[in-house]
Amino acid sequence: MNLRTRDFLTFAEIDGGETRRLLDLAARLKRDLRQSGRSKGSRQLAGATMAMIFQKPSTRTRVSFETGMFQLGGHAINLSASELQLSRGETVEDTARTLSRYVDVVMARVFDHSDLEALARCSEVPVVNGLSNSFHPCQTLADLLTIRERKGRLRGLRVCWIGDGNNVCNSLIYGCARTGMDVSVATPRRFCPLQSVVDEARDSVSVDLTADPAKAAAGADVVMTDTFSSIHNKDTDRARLFVPRYTVSDRLMARAAGDAVFMHCLPAKRGLEVAPSVIDGPQSAVWDEAENRLHVQKALLVALVGSRPARRA
Ligand code: CP
Repeated sequence: MNLRTRDFLTFAEIDGGETRRLLDLAARLKRDLRQSGRSKGSRQLAGATMAMIFQKPSTRTRVSFETGMFQLGGHAINLSASELQLSRGETVEDTARTLSRYVDVVMARVFDHSDLEALARCSEVPVVNGLSNSFHPCQTLADLLTIRERKGRLRGLRVCWIGDGNNVCNSLIYGCARTGMDVSVATPRRFCPLQSVVDEARDSVSVDLTADPAKAAAGADVVMTDTFSSIHNKDTDRARLFVPRYTVSDRLMARAAGDAVFMHCLPAKRGLEVAPSVIDGPQSAVWDEAENRLHVQKALLVALVGSRPARRA
């Protein structure tokens, strides 16, 4: 498959049909991997190289992208921003121009989303957002696959987000809009998701914003949260603004549908954004969600890189 977009920065770049086809491909790659064994990945990206720039720490994003590239027959280079000339003042633009003469795709985890936009503007090859302060679209792909596996469908479901209206929440709202899922978001007033994202999503689905977690969770099919203190948040005591009102507890889960699924992109802080009994309980899908990063990102790489002509010599 191929996508009309060259870059994947927010999730807004892909439409509903492309989202469905990416999820179908991810499901197929997951099934094939399980059937054929880990040693025999498909070789769809043989000879391709991905540069991975990390301005922030990562466990899931780094390992799932690198493993995925290996399973597709390609190669990934991990580049901590502190090791690049970026750390000595080379511009993002010049870094993009240089890297894209060597590699077939650039994945970057950055603080400022505008750095990703600059990378994409100056790169000759696809650029993928591995998390910025504003968006985390690869996480949303994994979340959609996980919900579809658990519920058998997406359209018509209602997803509830509790806590900080952060980067993960922004991309999730786009993902829900593309797949026909309504969203209820409960955040303290000053931690709402981006209004531009909410406005755009409201063209397709219902997006309710509230400060009341119990109201947002009522009858929801999926309850999601994330850390209250992301890597870029300077306020180390930020959690006190959310706990205990926005902690996903057993009591809050009881407000959701009886078969509701709990999800969290990880890493989690048990006892702050979620009770241990919820994240480690029977309704939790967090390990499938983490695994699915691998499968959806392989699908994304196949779609973005596999369908492009080889780089200019
Ligand atoms: N969910 C997520 O992006 O995990 P990492 O920060 O470990 O990559």
